[in-house]
Amino acid sequence: MPSWTLHQGDALTLLPTLDTLADAVIVDPPYNSGGLQAAQRRGQSARGKYVSGDANHLLPDFGGDRRDQRGYTYWLSSMLAASLAAARPGASALVFTDWAQLPATSDALQAGGWVWRGIIPWRKTIARPTRDGFKRECEYVLWGSHGEPTRHAPSIYLPGWLEGSQPRGKGRVHITQKPVAVMRQLVRIAPEGGTVLDWCAGSGTTGVAALAEGRRFVGIEASGEYAAAARQRLMAAVDKEPAAA
Ligand SMILES: C[S@@+](CC[C@H](N)C(=O)[O-])C[C@H]1O[C@@H](n2cnc3c(N)ncnc32)[C@H](O)[C@@H]1O
Repeated sequence: MPSWTLHQGDALTLLPTLDTLADAVIVDPPYNSGGLQAAQRRGQSARGKYVSGDANHLLPDFGGDRRDQRGYTYWLSSMLAASLAAARPGASALVFTDWAQLPATSDALQAGGWVWRGIIPWRKTIARPTRDGFKRECEYVLWGSHGEPTRHAPSIYLPGWLEGSQPRGKGRVHITQKPVAVMRQLVRIAPEGGTVLDWCAGSGTTGVAALAEGRRFVGIEASGEYAAAARQRLMAAVDKEPAAA
């Protein structure tokens, strides 16, 4: 197997076709959040919700971000059930979410058949202030396992919270891009040489981190533009072409 593979298309269709079982599923799905009311969440594109008005970048929009909370829970449950079938017993699932969708995400994780094991807050360091209230400066990574989690040899001890800013300037190629440094901590849940699967790969940050940490990567991304951006970043990360996917 090449050290990375990137498929372009819908994850629900492609997950059952994968020929390698994952040692970790690490996924940053569209949060279907970004508003206090359902109408706000459904009414705006991802760009409208997640790119602040003063941002001067013109990154492409992405789909799959206009479900209400019930629809989101149903969709994410189906995706996480398909992910379980694509993962080895003992594998971990790490699923990103925000404060508003945290309850929906823990429901979906368990409905998908994963054992819920914890929450890792990610502090973004740069976040909009909240007038007369508390700054929402954390997002969350929910941890689940496929049965009993894999025992590492030697044992590993991973942090209980993470910190890091989204890339800025030329390093920013996706609207909701995650920091590589944060992802590098997360991919260590897979054994060295193991396979990390991200079925909402975006610009490929999980894969860049997996390769940097000596793990293999299988990605799925719906958007053609973002799949191309991910391939470029992954090629730069290993400096060689993968087998066709
Ligand atoms: C939150 S972004 C991921 C960003 C990524 N973590 C990064 O650092 O670049 C979610 C991505 O999931 C993709 N997506 C949405 N629905 C999908 C689906 N059904 N199958 C595959 N990809 C999907 C979107 O196109 C978007 O790029």
